[in-house]
Amino acid sequence: MYDIDKVRRDFPMLDNKKMQNKPLIFLDNASTTFKPQCVIDKMNEYYTEMTSNSHRGDYDLCYNIDVEVAKTRKEIAKFVNSEVNEVVFTSGDTEAINLVAYGYALDNLKKGDKILISITEHASNVLPWYRICQLTGAEVVFVELENKRITANSVKNAFNKYSNIKLAAFAHVGNVLGYEINAKEIASICHSHGALLLLDGAQSVPHMPIDFKDLDVDFLTFSAHKMCGPTGIGCLVGKYDLLQKMSTFHLGGGMNVKFNKDMELEVLDAPAKFEAGTLNLSAIMGFGEAVKYISNIGIENIHKHDQELFDYAISKLEKEDKIIIYNKDSRNGIISFNIKGVFAQDEATLLNSKGIAVRSGQHCAKMIDEVIGEPATVRMSTYLYTSKEEVDAFIDALINGGDILDAYFN
Ligand SMILES: Cc1ncc(COP(=O)(O)O)c(C=O)c1O
Repeated sequence: MYDIDKVRRDFPMLDNKKMQNKPLIFLDNASTTFKPQCVIDKMNEYYTEMTSNSHRGDYDLCYNIDVEVAKTRKEIAKFVNSEVNEVVFTSGDTEAINLVAYGYALDNLKKGDKILISITEHASNVLPWYRICQLTGAEVVFVELENKRITANSVKNAFNKYSNIKLAAFAHVGNVLGYEINAKEIASICHSHGALLLLDGAQSVPHMPIDFKDLDVDFLTFSAHKMCGPTGIGCLVGKYDLLQKMSTFHLGGGMNVKFNKDMELEVLDAPAKFEAGTLNLSAIMGFGEAVKYISNIGIENIHKHDQELFDYAISKLEKEDKIIIYNKDSRNGIISFNIKGVFAQDEATLLNSKGIAVRSGQHCAKMIDEVIGEPATVRMSTYLYTSKEEVDAFIDALINGGDILDAYFN
């Protein structure tokens, strides 16, 4: 039984916080999430009891932090079902995608090759590929969407249309419309054409069970801050043989075995070869704690909770003529909508005046307007601590919230 009241008590940000002098209702969880006290405590533990550098000393403090880093890596591997040495720490999802771009694609793509993406992708899963194409002469091509979605069929069509696709990169769950792709089937299609698949898990790993081995994707990326963890830390999970073949992206201490005056360098095995410099140690400790926290609640329970809130909100919103919903059938904790005749940012400002945090605009997916036919949307997104009462208050504010000018002149 999912005990929402108990879950909410774990989060200091939910403890009578106000925005605009109203109780804070946070519905921008696709952007970032609140941290439970145990994560905050774990991060503090690094500064108050464990400060030292990892992999760099022969004294107990260093050993202890090495153990913590190893524990987090193991926790993450268990959570996504990968091998422990397939987990590379990065500063977040964005850096993880860039690591694949610079560590894999830069070496392996050439003029005439193609990278397959979609126009629904977040900037982080578009711009690194543009840069790689500028550097290699390869080309980015776009999958044709079917009913706003990337389907197995649309990916097959792309492989029929374009030769030499070497890499595909898609969000597992889109950050504007919340549609989930069939990653396993799409990975199999990519592999049958000799291409690799990078799965951007920024919006899926925090919300639903993920099995890296079963999906058989080549790379999986995600950020801790979207799953109750700290900012500034995330992961690339990659098949080990690919990680071993990839070039390093950052170079420095902690990633090399030796180097000499002839500029010869021997690097450590993955994942260490990608983790140059001092790691974000308190964040790594907090990340491990966040994964443990979510695992204890149960990722299936979290997914079900998001879906129940989604169904509940949609059942009420779709009765309202003035509300246009762009993803009624995505069921993944993200609802993108507009109020007829109201600019998205004005609606978000009105909601802010009522203490409700949502996001408006293009949500970093700057080609999404082609899919929805509008320059901007309002996005509400839930997480494990979002209550039905908060969703009710949000719906009430949309329906009975008054004129948008109230937000500016009250
Ligand atoms: C689908 C998707 N990809 C990538 C990112 C980038 O994540 P980060 O800013 O944590 O690196 C986001 C963030 O919103 C996202 O939603």
